Amino acid sequence: MQTYYDMNIEPASILGRRVSVMGFGAQGRAHALNLRDSGVDVVVGLRTDSPSRGICKELGLAVQTPSKAAASSDVVVMLVPDQIQPALYRETLADSMTEGSAMVFAHGYSIHFRHIEPRQDLDVLMVAPLGIGDQVRALYEAGRGVPALLALHQDASGAARDLGLGYAWANGHGRAGIFETSFSDETETDLFAEQAVLCGGLTHLISAAYDTLVDAGYPAELAYFGCLHEVKLIADLVHQRGISGMRKSISSTAEFGDYSRGPRIINQESRRAMREILDEVRDGRFDRELSAEAETGFPAIRAGRKAAQTHSIELVGKRLRAMMPWLSES
Ligand SMILES: NC(=O)c1ccc[n+]([C@@H]2O[C@H](COP(=O)([O-])OP(=O)(O)OC[C@H]3O[C@@H](n4cnc5c(N)ncnc54)[C@H](OP(=O)(O)O)[C@@H]3O)[C@@H](O)[C@H]2O)c1
Repeated sequence: MQTYYDMNIEPASILGRRVSVMGFGAQGRAHALNLRDSGVDVVVGLRTDSPSRGICKELGLAVQTPSKAAASSDVVVMLVPDQIQPALYRETLADSMTEGSAMVFAHGYSIHFRHIEPRQDLDVLMVAPLGIGDQVRALYEAGRGVPALLALHQDASGAARDLGLGYAWANGHGRAGIFETSFSDETETDLFAEQAVLCGGLTHLISAAYDTLVDAGYPAELAYFGCLHEVKLIADLVHQRGISGMRKSISSTAEFGDYSRGPRIINQESRRAMREILDEVRDGRFDRELSAEAETGFPAIRAGRKAAQTHSIELVGKRLRAMMPWLSES
């Protein structure tokens, strides 16, 4: 993959441009503060009744309505939830963005699934951080950064790549690596990874293993520590050293259990399910399902949250974590 670092980037492509960040949530807060601290002229686009307005003002960030911010900017960054972006573009930004300006996304969803069909005069690009917003800000402040993916959808100006690299530099990504890809590849791999591993796979693996121990009569506390609490220890090792590196830190008993029992959990049926999940992402079935879910007020998400509230893994976890308040800081 084509990869860029700070040394390959000319910051002038972003310095001197006015950037409006739409939204002040997980990513919006991090990007607005990082860009401001890198010397970029930033304004945050928020609704008039937004509870985030006061926080922005306390942090010294300029705030305008989304339409006014877009009308006064060279670059608009879409950092509201993916399901909100199409309406924000259609009802506000399409008419207020200035001729020849640029739109930056942190995820390819709205463009890849054609929920937004941008005006032809706009540069449309993606700088997708490979980390949550808190990390994007904390690592920037520590002089480090999270890696990011760069992609171009429309290069009306002929300078969209330079702008994307400048944006990534200002957000701290050039310190860790900027990898050039496409909107399609970013969207499909991101959705697949969060469904198969990061969210869907991991949470269901933890819950099923916990239920197995509790149903067999073991104390919920033992099940919680073994199947949930210790996931972080292993995840940190995998993150820092890779899978083989992690295995150097575990006992030979654990390593033998890994090779001999792991394939019974992730077996041919699991791999077939992964291929089906990838097919549903690629042929648009997942997007259609999510769109229907959003149009009806997210009934599946609300039902999932309600069921989780009464599951014993949540109740025992809440009690155990209350005695270890430092966990929320790590
Ligand atoms: N979450 C992550 O760490 C992460 C990681 C990588 C990429 N991304 C991508 O980054 C983008 C933003 O995601 P996010 O998780 O940062 O979003 P988020 O935290 O859910 O965004 C919340 C912000 O959006 C604003 N907002 C909601 N509805 C709005 C509307 N109708 N008009 C104007 N503003 C509205 C909220 O305004 P108020 O303040 O007024 O409530 C709030 O400031 C998405 O494309 C996502 O896929 C996210």
